[in-house]
Amino acid sequence: MKEQIAKILAEKIPSLSEAEILELIEIPPNPQMGDYAFPCFRLAKTLRKAPPMIAADLLGEIEAPDFIEEIKVAGAYLNFYVKKNVYAETLLSKVRGEQFGSSEEGKGHTICIDYSSPNVAKNFHVGHLRTTIIGNSLYKIFSKLGYHVERINHLGDWGTQFGKLIVAYKKWGSEEAVKEKGIEELMRLYVDFHKAADEDPALEDEARFWFAEMERGNEEALKIWKWFVDISLEEFKRTYRLLGLEFDHYTGESFYRDKTEAVVKRLTDANLLSESEGAKIVDLSEYDMAPCLILKNDGSSIYATRDLAAIFYRMENYHFDRCLYVTGQEQRLHFQQVFKVVELLGNEWAKEGLVHIPYGLVSLGGEKLSSRDGNVIYAEDILLEAISKIKAIIEEKNPDLENKDDVARNVGVGAVIFNDLYNQRIKDVSFRWEHLLNFDGETGPYVQYTYARCSSILRKVEDFDPNGPIDISFMTDEASLGLLKELSRFDSVVKEAAKRYEPSVVARFAVAVAQAFNHYYTVNRINVEDVNERNARVLLVDITRRILRDAMDLLGITCVEQM
Ligand code: ARG
Repeated sequence: MKEQIAKILAEKIPSLSEAEILELIEIPPNPQMGDYAFPCFRLAKTLRKAPPMIAADLLGEIEAPDFIEEIKVAGAYLNFYVKKNVYAETLLSKVRGEQFGSSEEGKGHTICIDYSSPNVAKNFHVGHLRTTIIGNSLYKIFSKLGYHVERINHLGDWGTQFGKLIVAYKKWGSEEAVKEKGIEELMRLYVDFHKAADEDPALEDEARFWFAEMERGNEEALKIWKWFVDISLEEFKRTYRLLGLEFDHYTGESFYRDKTEAVVKRLTDANLLSESEGAKIVDLSEYDMAPCLILKNDGSSIYATRDLAAIFYRMENYHFDRCLYVTGQEQRLHFQQVFKVVELLGNEWAKEGLVHIPYGLVSLGGEKLSSRDGNVIYAEDILLEAISKIKAIIEEKNPDLENKDDVARNVGVGAVIFNDLYNQRIKDVSFRWEHLLNFDGETGPYVQYTYARCSSILRKVEDFDPNGPIDISFMTDEASLGLLKELSRFDSVVKEAAKRYEPSVVARFAVAVAQAFNHYYTVNRINVEDVNERNARVLLVDITRRILRDAMDLLGITCVEQM
């Protein structure tokens, strides 16, 4: 309809193309101002007339298409009122198909997403929770659009810190303690190492020695290291299970240890490497960036070297169109440098194909979060706490509910995920239990509650056929049409979320749909006597339920049928 309006306007406005007019057409914030509005400001200059006069002239000239009920001038706008039944019919046919929201635009294209990537022997903290949640949502969003996605966990499992850990373990550690306490014990050893190294700097040399041994393939060193990796992975996977997500590849930094030499060779052949205090760097001063360090003065590789190796490996093996990196914004410079180096090696694709997706901090704002020792906060503990808080609410309000544990997990974990994704990713997330667990706000539990309400209505109706004929006149009231309008945005919402790498677009959409539905439900009785009316009313419940479920799924949240 918007296109047809643009078409008839274009015939009367020679100074603008049909595409430009289409761009200009707005959807007024409230239906009293029409369903579509064309602002005339842009024309004032060429036509040398006041915008309201232009609008009035246009009104006299254009011929309304038959889906239009009325056209009115309001200030500088020409407002189009669509015939309600045509409008409802059009929107309904758009949202009715099971596949609504999916597309094939990504067919034949591959996207790598590098996300989560916690550091071995360190706790999986709230920052890693964000990259995990955002990355997983982007995976779902791009998959929905038909892209092939490779989910890559670039674990921090290589580097000098493991030399330190080996030294500390050999001096002060015990097998039992590590077995019993896992990452907590490894973190203690790491802290102890630094305390001791302050007194005795020779320890640092020892640590460097052991990391060099690891790089050389020393069996004893690698055995200890591998054990630390396994222990850490086991803990990380517990968190992933709680979140209900998976990866296609656990290729951490260590995976590239035999692939960094080739990077150095490429850089040498391209004449890009220079010496600086014994280290090898790529000078990036021409691009206003600090140099990218490639080899330390002892010849060992670093984070950036392994990232370069990873990019070439992924290109050769996955032939990606784009490789996305979801990390905190403090790594912005690192990725700018690495991407620039890839480009300088003659790879034009680096410009569009490598994308850093930064996000803001989690601010705990005085919130009391459980921590295992001192101030260390584990993502796992947050998720478990959310689950147990929801469980307590269920025990109090609905003790007879079936599958209480499942419901508590999906609602609790979903609440944390939703809170994380509701605002633009670059903004800091504030973490407040009373907000994110609120059933009545812009929250996960609110959307879940709305979904469960839809399910419960549908359980109660009999002989409803979602594909049956519909009397559209039961969908032209303000609330039904309003709900249809919200629902019909889903396909463009998914596309916009992908384009901006912004799951918040989907989260906000879910809330808007839930609100429109709850309004619809307040003003309309659903399970009425009249079969035609009932079918129409129930159909909207059914479609809302499906779209809410699909939207929540794009965020990585599983909806519950009852709560
Ligand atoms: N392990 C890093 C960290 O915790 C994140 C790695 C991100 N991915 C990458 N390819 N550099 O900060």
